[in-house]
Amino acid sequence: MQSITGKTALITGAGRGIGRALAHAFAREGVHVALMGRTGANVENVANELAEYDVKTVSVQADVSNGGEVKDAVQQVKDTLGEIDILINNAGIGKFGRFLDLSEEDWRNVWDVNVMGIYHVTHAVLPDMVERQAGEIVNISSTSGLRGTVGSSAYSASKFAVLGLTESLMREMRQENIRVQAISPSKVITDFASDHNLSDGTEDSEHFMQAEDLADVVVSQLKLHPRMFVKNSELWATNPK
Ligand SMILES: NC(=O)c1ccc[n+]([C@@H]2O[C@H](COP(=O)([O-])OP(=O)(O)OC[C@H]3O[C@@H](n4cnc5c(N)ncnc54)[C@H](OP(=O)(O)O)[C@@H]3O)[C@@H](O)[C@H]2O)c1
Repeated sequence: MQSITGKTALITGAGRGIGRALAHAFAREGVHVALMGRTGANVENVANELAEYDVKTVSVQADVSNGGEVKDAVQQVKDTLGEIDILINNAGIGKFGRFLDLSEEDWRNVWDVNVMGIYHVTHAVLPDMVERQAGEIVNISSTSGLRGTVGSSAYSASKFAVLGLTESLMREMRQENIRVQAISPSKVITDFASDHNLSDGTEDSEHFMQAEDLADVVVSQLKLHPRMFVKNSELWATNPK
């Protein structure tokens, strides 16, 4: 095991849900946190929540589907916190419906955020990691990236793509001492789940997976000895009822 205290993590989609839970989990571990989000007020709120921990934080506004905004935001992070040790590509959206009911715009939106978003952020962060021969990249996919279901064609296509790009980048980057891994959760009780009718907000938190559970997995994976890593972690609730 290794300590992650004192490292710096950049989390995309950090204003709510899983990204917010990751921000708290890292700060509790003494990791400095850069919060990137589409809505400035959301990431600022989370940065304020982190004031209770003894870590540095910065919040930056960027739409991950916009390469120019991402580049500027990553520079802002580096100017404030220095080098980025850990990148969590978490920002994501869903569009669900039967294939013939999803528009081309729906498909492009999902692809631009879920796939091109990872491209833009990783492209801005990775060169420094390669130069330092150290780094961690965690991409949040989904169990929808492992199997298609009725109504998930666009989302599943994007999350399958996340796993493909993660494995390919992993094979390139392990030679640079950089670990690249994916996390593939099934339903997590966040706004995403309620927005897409996966949750009615009444689930018992003792039985359904919470954002904090996923954050615990990420933190423990990053603490593993640097000589190895878990390529893809598929997360399930034990007995969701
Ligand atoms: N919840 C689940 O059941 C579940 C299951 C499997 C996988 N996942 C994946 O887990 C990740 C996080 O999901 P979540 O449940 O935490 O979702 P969420 O509660 O809907 O939060 C999504 C976060 O991503 C941000 N975001 C969305 N589009 C963005 C963009 N274009 N640029 C920058 N930030 C953007 C949102 O920013 P704003 O605050 O500005 O809206 C928000 O902070 C996603 O990749 C999702 O696909 C979720």
